[in-house]
Amino acid sequence: MKIMKKINMITAFLAVSCLLIVSLTFNSCAPTKAVADKSGAQLWAENCQRCHNTPAPSSFGPEQWETIGMHMQTRSLITEKERDKIVDFLKGSR
Ligand code: HEC
Repeated sequence: MKIMKKINMITAFLAVSCLLIVSLTFNSCAPTKAVADKSGAQLWAENCQRCHNTPAPSSFGPEQWETIGMHMQTRSLITEKERDKIVDFLKGSR
């Protein structure tokens, strides 16, 4: 019984260390931490009204947003990651 407890403790310790390493690695590797911290809604508000009014999320359906996202990514010079966040946000409204 005692040994089981020890094994459980070791497992828990390993799990916690693993999570810590993963999160540290992820943070140090992320080239644009600021972007990673921003929500799709925020990126949408910041990037999509430079040239026209911010389109309402409900104006288009999910497939349309997918296409518009690709089109507007080239216009707004955002990264793929930013585009995906924005498109996910816009698709979520319908
Ligand atoms: C650099 C300027 C610019 C930026 C930034 C920009 N757009 Fe556009 N957008 C345009 C122009 C120009 C059009 C007119 C259609 C075209 O591209 O020929 C347009 C059209 C659209 C349309 C209408 C498409 C249609 O089929 O009627 C939507 C929706 C749209 N943009 C969404 C977005 C979103 C979402 C973003 C942010 C990711 C964005 N735009 C960023 C320039 C821009």
